[in-house]
Amino acid sequence: MSLHKGSSQEADADARLRSLALNPFFGEANPVGGMTGAPPRHRLPDGPLPPATAYQLVHDELMLDGNARLNLATFVTTWMEPQAAVLMAECRDKNMIDKDEYPRTAELERRCVAMLADLWHAPDRDAAVGCSTTGSSEACMLAGMALKRRWAKRPANAARYPSREARPNLVMGINVQVCWEKFCNFWEVEARQVPMAGDRFHLDPQAAAELCDENTIGVVAVLGSTYDGSYEPVAELCAALDALQERTGLDIPVHVDGASGAMVAPFLDPDLEWDFRLPRVASINTSGHKYGLVYPGVGWALWRSAEELPEELVFRVNYLGGEMPTFALNFSRPGAQVVAQYYTFLRLGREGYRAVQQASRNVARGLAERIEALGDFRLLTRGDQLPVFAFTTAPDVTAYDVFDVSRRLRERGWLVPAYTFPAHREDLSVLRVVCRNGFSADLAGLLLSELRRLLPELRAQRGPVRPDPAQATAFHH
Ligand SMILES: Cc1ncc(COP(=O)(O)O)c(C=O)c1O
Repeated sequence: MSLHKGSSQEADADARLRSLALNPFFGEANPVGGMTGAPPRHRLPDGPLPPATAYQLVHDELMLDGNARLNLATFVTTWMEPQAAVLMAECRDKNMIDKDEYPRTAELERRCVAMLADLWHAPDRDAAVGCSTTGSSEACMLAGMALKRRWAKRPANAARYPSREARPNLVMGINVQVCWEKFCNFWEVEARQVPMAGDRFHLDPQAAAELCDENTIGVVAVLGSTYDGSYEPVAELCAALDALQERTGLDIPVHVDGASGAMVAPFLDPDLEWDFRLPRVASINTSGHKYGLVYPGVGWALWRSAEELPEELVFRVNYLGGEMPTFALNFSRPGAQVVAQYYTFLRLGREGYRAVQQASRNVARGLAERIEALGDFRLLTRGDQLPVFAFTTAPDVTAYDVFDVSRRLRERGWLVPAYTFPAHREDLSVLRVVCRNGFSADLAGLLLSELRRLLPELRAQRGPVRPDPAQATAFHH
């Protein structure tokens, strides 16, 4: 959650002092009576409001949020079927941690883990362990903690950690999602990042292996990259680490951050080996609320077997008079999202997921091609891995830049983020389009028409309207 500083951050300085505005119509029985008690903005009101008034005030303020369906910045699900919404409403009062009180919800969570273990080819599906989380960030924290604890417990490290010489590190591409920087910061692990180089926008397996040493707790491979939707080469990374082990004896596990791709590749790229088929892959996470097709927030973390998840990290909660092992950062957590995940698994099955993801990939590929055909843009990716593509302006385009495109599209309700790439490719700024279930070919056609309509005006600019440099990189992946 954002860290807020009381009322000082209210953008409109005058608004800080004003109370919320009431409309006479908000008063139920006596309209004018409803006008007397305008509630303050940044202080808990002294008394209650009628529910209709409170509802209307909140509802009206939220009208200024963007339209989630037109938000092409997010990977997170913005449309579910009405039946899923009904189930979620039915379960909104269930706390996931109350396993004893809600044993069927607990059972649905267990079944989801079993389904994912099967989908991701755990060699022994009964031995795989896993849990639901609030999203991939929590799942990555858990997976990172397991890697760190396993490393610390190795006989060679138990004697030296903690000490100056034994500072654990985690190897990853510089393109990782911010959750990995958080993990390293919060759990005091050095982040060793493989930089981008030329037109390689994600991790290079050889370079990653070269960064490993006796303090490396693991290597993170991303399927696929938040920056451009490309899959990192997990099998090649495992091969490079096999070679490293042969040369040096270092046995480095791999965690696959499949926040998006772990729910795309199994259906669209079944022959791609990126999961537990690779013996070096110790754990995998995904966001149920991304291509798992559930409203936020639910994620999943799975380990190949109990051996990859040190027992002392597991806590036990009451369950039907016994104990159920749990591994989580939160205690209380909504059960509705887990129920919705089970519903979606049941509803779609493998074939249904394949059809939905294929439709998104078709939209991404088609839209990418048509944007390329406009002539003003160069594609970095084409939507043929994640249904996501990134593009920049062609070298001869000097009248405007990607930030202008993003700003102008926003005027028409489309949220298409523009951002600058990290170290070694800071020269490159791109736009990114995430195609999700619900972003249909028809909507993609409307976006393209909008872009076409804007081009003459953009081409007529005398140069890019430079944004505040801080804004240019403020988009978080
Ligand atoms: C590769 C990757 N990892 C982790 C995350 C964080 O996921 P969540 O938003 O579910 O916490 C994201 C989010 O976009 C991501 O793309």
